[in-house]
Amino acid sequence: MKILITGNMGYIGPVVVRHLRARYPDSHLVGYDAGYFAHCLTTPDGLPERLLTEQVFGDIRFIADKVFEDVDAVVHLAAVSNDPMGTRFEEPTDAINFRASVRVAEQARDAGVRNFVFASSCSIYGFAEGGPRRETDALNPLTAYARSKIATEEALRQVDLGGMSVTCLRFATACGMSDRLRLDLVLNDFVAGAIATGEISVLSDGTPWRPLIDVTDMARAIDWAIRRDPGNGGAFLAVNAGSNSWNYQVSELAQAVADAIPGTRVSINKDAPPDKRSYRVDFGLFRSLAPDHQPQMTLVESVGRIRDGLMAIGFADPDYRKSDRIRLQVLDRHMSAGRLSTDLRWQEQLAA
Ligand SMILES: NC(=O)c1ccc[n+]([C@@H]2O[C@H](COP(=O)([O-])OP(=O)(O)OC[C@H]3O[C@@H](n4cnc5c(N)ncnc54)[C@H](O)[C@@H]3O)[C@@H](O)[C@H]2O)c1
Repeated sequence: MKILITGNMGYIGPVVVRHLRARYPDSHLVGYDAGYFAHCLTTPDGLPERLLTEQVFGDIRFIADKVFEDVDAVVHLAAVSNDPMGTRFEEPTDAINFRASVRVAEQARDAGVRNFVFASSCSIYGFAEGGPRRETDALNPLTAYARSKIATEEALRQVDLGGMSVTCLRFATACGMSDRLRLDLVLNDFVAGAIATGEISVLSDGTPWRPLIDVTDMARAIDWAIRRDPGNGGAFLAVNAGSNSWNYQVSELAQAVADAIPGTRVSINKDAPPDKRSYRVDFGLFRSLAPDHQPQMTLVESVGRIRDGLMAIGFADPDYRKSDRIRLQVLDRHMSAGRLSTDLRWQEQLAA
């Protein structure tokens, strides 16, 4: 089996590649990434790309047809991947997350790819009171990032898929350890704060609901989607990916981290304005379609792995919210050093 993984050099990608390599030792795994965060390693174990058969450096806005030759499945992760970056880089977010993603799917279809997996997001539900959101419920995108995910899903729903199955996995907010750990995600941020400062500072009043999924469980869901038969869910499928037992309030997440790291203080901002992003999600459809690929991690295990992973690299930076563990900071640094253009293209390539 030949699998193309775009955006493999980010946070989730290395975990997906490790999972696929273990599950399919003889597979031909190709990574394709612009490398914005290639240097942001959080592992003592060397470059995670060593598990690939091939690494291609490139921008999905200009990906060549030949990259899709003989590919059986595409895992499309490449994106401007969170709200703060999407707000800052609104035009490239639309160009990369939406327009290029649809083109990538069409190129895959034309090359005879059987399964295309799109990393969508539960953030498309936005602020949603009144019970967990199902796939058929109204969407309420609050940001450019969420809008880009919806636009892509809609285009993929309408495009002629040929013989290709498309699975849009609406992932809950990611958490967990990775060879390129991010600290701009709620649970990861809490663990880092507890280790580096002995304090978890909750920016909201702690009440917002946030469904989470560990990165290893994301890889399990992707493993299901790359082999999904169209008879199971249809040729096009958009499905919430996560678990009902992982709908947590932010204050519960903080408490779980404090329990795992003794001595941690939890400071909740009781005066914070209401957080606009609060939603619970119903993962029942995913459970019924993918009973053998359900999330297996517990919150305690996930917290433990982040803690142990950070300890293993001697993490102790109290200013981590300004560090290269925060994606927007990395892009900013590339830009102020003249390496990246405002539309997120490498300047050296533009000049060549
Ligand atoms: N992290 C989450 O909570 C979460 C939740 C739901 C969905 N997702 C989605 O999962 C995917 C992966 O997320 P992540 O957390 O690993 O993100 P990430 O930002 O850590 O990694 C994204 C990767 O895509 C690459 N990339 C970005 N633009 C590119 C371009 N134009 N050409 C080639 N490569 C490009 C980056 O270099 C990076 O390595 C994204 O699509 C994201 O929207 C993430």
